[in-house]
Amino acid sequence: MCGIIGATSSCSDVVPLLIRGLQRLEYRGYDSVGVAVVSGGLVTVRKGAGELEVVRRRLAIDGMSGTTGIGHTRWATHGPPNDVNAHPHTDCTGTVAIVHNGVIRNYASLREELIAKGHRIRSETDTELVAHLIEEGLGEGRDFVEALARALMRVEGTYAFAILNSREPDRVYFAKNRSPLLVGVGDKVKVVASDLPAMLEAAKDVIFLEDGEFGYVTPTEVAIYRLTKDGYAKLSDAEVASRVRRVNLTPEAASKGGYPHFMVKEIYEQPQAVRDTYEGNIDDPALAKVSSALAGASKVIVVAAGTSYHAGLVFSYLLARRAGLLPHAIISSEAPYLMNAVEEGDLVVAVSQSGETYDTLEAVRMAKDLGAIVVGVTNVLGSALDRISDLKLYTRAGPEIGVAATKTFLSQVMLLELLSIRAGVDSGRLKPSEAKELLDALREVPQLLTYTLEASDPVATALSKSVAGGSMYVLGRGLGSAIAREGALKVKEIAYLHAEAYPAGESKHGPIALVERGFPVFIAATSDAREVAGNAVEMAARGARVYVVKPADLSLDLEAKETITRIDMPPSSGTLELEPFILTPVFQLFAYRFAVGKGYNPDKPRNLAKTVTVE
Ligand code: G6P
Repeated sequence: MCGIIGATSSCSDVVPLLIRGLQRLEYRGYDSVGVAVVSGGLVTVRKGAGELEVVRRRLAIDGMSGTTGIGHTRWATHGPPNDVNAHPHTDCTGTVAIVHNGVIRNYASLREELIAKGHRIRSETDTELVAHLIEEGLGEGRDFVEALARALMRVEGTYAFAILNSREPDRVYFAKNRSPLLVGVGDKVKVVASDLPAMLEAAKDVIFLEDGEFGYVTPTEVAIYRLTKDGYAKLSDAEVASRVRRVNLTPEAASKGGYPHFMVKEIYEQPQAVRDTYEGNIDDPALAKVSSALAGASKVIVVAAGTSYHAGLVFSYLLARRAGLLPHAIISSEAPYLMNAVEEGDLVVAVSQSGETYDTLEAVRMAKDLGAIVVGVTNVLGSALDRISDLKLYTRAGPEIGVAATKTFLSQVMLLELLSIRAGVDSGRLKPSEAKELLDALREVPQLLTYTLEASDPVATALSKSVAGGSMYVLGRGLGSAIAREGALKVKEIAYLHAEAYPAGESKHGPIALVERGFPVFIAATSDAREVAGNAVEMAARGARVYVVKPADLSLDLEAKETITRIDMPPSSGTLELEPFILTPVFQLFAYRFAVGKGYNPDKPRNLAKTVTVE
């Protein structure tokens, strides 16, 4: 995920501070690096694709100097990783340089508009457009605050910006909407950055910016404005002063965002990941294109491995329900044995967070050879899957470091749900008003996920202490069966417990034979399949210790039995699309807490690789 930093000092060169800040942002994952400084009335930019240490040497970034500068680590969202798309970006005149973390939703229309006005857009990024929007305002004779405010009013989506300009060599401007951004208040230096580790060396007093806030720092001043319905208003000095917090953390403790492991950091990043995925796709013309390709396809085949396969299963259930399409979801490594049935006119949806999984790529190559159209759904722009696909959709989860997929899973679910709703409308089965209701509900998922994480963690911690080792079942019906599979996979991968997922109805055909007193059975209960209550009761009748994870408002016909525990998560109001977000985190956190309790490393589970590039 992109990391941004900006600094301005009254007495020293900020380039070393920016470089150390970028080093501390590296843990977020990135593909390109860049720095801009303003000095002698000129903005200088050096940027390129590659690792910080390599780009730093190649472009002699250490040789830059200035008392005001900005820096960036990029994780590609619009346009592949290359030197041109690396940040900072400048306007036509080279007056403004900007770095960005986030996704601008109305990117396509802004780009068209700016090109029509004669702007020279050099990169494929959404970020560069904002430099040109500011240029427009400056060209109309507005001051920078006004020009920035006007630009922000035009921008839809998520952003944290740090911006400098050659006219005001001691200022770093900033703006925040739903991407993290902090201001560090040092004595003779002020810093803005995506997170604490990048700034703690320079400032221990910090202001956590709120959404809709923007402003600037000079070496001695912090000015904050708030966007309002009809303009913007400046916060008083007293208000700004009251926002300053002392942070007692070392930069080391603050890396991994202050979390002890990447896995838990990424679990807690899920609200942001699904928000960026929603914003990045909801108005993307590619979604409409894929939806009409689905409608026109003779057969729809989903191929994926591991967690991505489970996202593919969620997609299959929802596509059947909303659009009347029944895709074949195939595990990538099994695809070669089923591919004979693929022919021209078929559509293959390949889901892979890394875009590099060998088996998935092989399946895609075969499908292409047989004449199918391939839709690649990936989190990594420029990955092999991205390059080979005919149509491309992107999750916007940012890089995932923990081996077990967490935030990329729920981001895949979000994207594939948006697609199934769109396909529902195109098929005529879903009224536009119903689709709008669903999309409105999905827009609230980041908040819902925040509540869900709050509700899940204490439960997961308690379960991690009470569930003994050995085996367990994770059951579900309908959409719940896909969630159960993902839950069981997390438990296997991270807690090293034998968790077997089964469609609950099928559990009577064999698995139930293993159940005896105290055998743990988890149930992921979704609103499309209340019959799952019957399976819970059957298991309890054989002595199982049953845990039913469900939306709080899903009423199930469960006996009031001491061996059946209801684990109530936030309500879904019967909106099935919300339920993967409500039911998945408790399994992720249970696996994580259990592993930590046993002293296992949750980020690097034994025998597993993040990306499996072999057959
Ligand atoms: C490996 C990872 C899993 C991942 C699977 C598929 O097994 O450990 O977390 O779900 O590969 O990866 P992909 O990148 O194709 O989604």
